[in-house]
Amino acid sequence: MKTFKRVLNIIMVILTVTLLWSCNSEGAKKAQRIREIKIGVTLYKESDLFISSIAENLIDIAKEKESSEDIKIILNIADSNGSTVNETKQVEKFINQKYDVICVNLVDRTAASTIIDKAKLANIPVIFFNREPVEEDMQRWNKIYYVGAEAEKSGKMQAEIILDAYKENSNIVDKNSDGKIQYVMLEGEAGHQDSSIRTEYCIKSMIENGLEVEKLSDDIANWENSQAREKMIQWIKSYGDDIEVVFSNNDDMALGAINAYDSLNIDIVDRPLIVGVDGIQEALQQIKEGKMIGTVISDAKEQASAIFNIAFSLGKNGDIDECIDLLDGKYFKVKHTKVLKENVELFYN
Ligand code: GAL
Ligand code: CA
Repeated sequence: MKTFKRVLNIIMVILTVTLLWSCNSEGAKKAQRIREIKIGVTLYKESDLFISSIAENLIDIAKEKESSEDIKIILNIADSNGSTVNETKQVEKFINQKYDVICVNLVDRTAASTIIDKAKLANIPVIFFNREPVEEDMQRWNKIYYVGAEAEKSGKMQAEIILDAYKENSNIVDKNSDGKIQYVMLEGEAGHQDSSIRTEYCIKSMIENGLEVEKLSDDIANWENSQAREKMIQWIKSYGDDIEVVFSNNDDMALGAINAYDSLNIDIVDRPLIVGVDGIQEALQQIKEGKMIGTVISDAKEQASAIFNIAFSLGKNGDIDECIDLLDGKYFKVKHTKVLKENVELFYN
């Protein structure tokens, strides 16, 4: 009996030790789990003011999150510098280095399939932003997402800014009192959803709201300040005081138009009304100074925070948190706000 008890004791000790050992090793495994999330980001062109502001916001948000949660966040932001080849290489690098999520600001929004196929093969989700892939590409896989703004609304709001000014005092807009609004349109890149849709909805809204419009000219200035400045100088030479409104698909080109007027020393009262989109700080400054009538904010901070929240949730849980409300399970579109001299201080830092 004594021998039996001793054997039983030995068995119990062995069992307890084994159990403790296995619990500890389970604990050690848990400790190794999700202590780090790797997010790779590619930008179509870092020199683009609006894009760089999204990137800066992403860095701030990641830092905040890292200090509030016990997770290391590796955020690697790469500049494609306008080259699809660079961008594809960067994505391949993120895949080889086993990043958890890849965020892509496409150089060519019509050519997302190569990136999607590579990411799908490696099972790494992709969040596109600002340059929207075509619908067909968005359907290629269920782990692709898009964060951007509502292009239609921004165009409509540009029109509203001019319509409101007209209602308040028609002479401020229709300077030659011919009952028509003579305008020029500075357009972003050809084929970019925010160029074509903003242009279309802006003019459509003007007409739908009963204003007669006359296009003096329009041209592509690729979102760029310097290109817009050159076009504007030409237009001022050709049309002079006839230009009553300058619609610009973004703020940086609107700033280029202002530069043109500044460089020709044309008095502010003799200039057309200039309206942009984005809400970058440099444009808000011009609104304060009365050189731009207004802009439509396309909240870079909110876009960055949507990109980050989706990426973080995918990196941490492999899925989208319930509190993130996506359209069709894929799309997140940020709302716009109109900014004029009256409310500019609310947004100016
Ligand atoms: C637009 C923005 C432009 C430019 C462009 C780049 O949404 O208004 O300023 O940043 O995206 O794709
Ligand atoms: Ca007129």
